[in-house]
Amino acid sequence: MDALTALHTRKASPKLVEPAPSQDELTQIYQAALRAPDHAMLRPWRFLVIKGEARNKLGELFVSAMQPDTEEQRNKLLKAPLRAPMIIVAVSTITEHPKVPAIEQIGSTAAAIQNMSLAAHALGYASIWRTGAVAFSDAVKLSLDLKTSDEIVGLLYLGSSTYENIPIPEINSEDYFEEWT
Ligand SMILES: Cc1cc2nc3c(=O)[nH]c(=O)nc-3n(C[C@H](O)[C@H](O)[C@H](O)COP(=O)(O)O)c2cc1C
Repeated sequence: MDALTALHTRKASPKLVEPAPSQDELTQIYQAALRAPDHAMLRPWRFLVIKGEARNKLGELFVSAMQPDTEEQRNKLLKAPLRAPMIIVAVSTITEHPKVPAIEQIGSTAAAIQNMSLAAHALGYASIWRTGAVAFSDAVKLSLDLKTSDEIVGLLYLGSSTYENIPIPEINSEDYFEEWT
């Protein structure tokens, strides 16, 4: 798939199933992430790759970190990681830098997530970028051996789409782009 086709046709898929990308394909997806623009080459990212049984452990970690009030919330957290064969948790590890504020480091990590999503799509897979309360919880960060100063920029759920021909919304460029003179 050429780059413009990938850009124009990528669509998030809320429910993902096997097959997940193979190890060779994952290497290509990881390389795409690592080509994200990166001011001062800080490499402000870390990626936790969670597959198979580890997804159940992640669900349990969510429950113990988030301390849900109801059984319904507990089950939702427990099952959340099972919505795809694999998840890549993209973390921005913020470094103090005189020219590169945190927002730029988070922006780089966001670009890395989008690069992975596009690479997966180009290889015939699908994904969805999610966050939610778990991404912003200090207790979740600490349970994942992250620092509270780290930012979980996204959880990229990855696999094969269960949907065929998800419509791509038509959006007028003129609504968002204007020539400034
Ligand atoms: C930072 C960020 C966080 C997101 N978090 C969620 C989320 O928690 N749950 C969700 O259903 N979609 C979330 N989305 C939106 C989906 O990834 C996706 O963009 C949306 O479903 C629209 O589909 P599309 O990307 O194919 O247009 C998030 C997107 C971004 C950029």
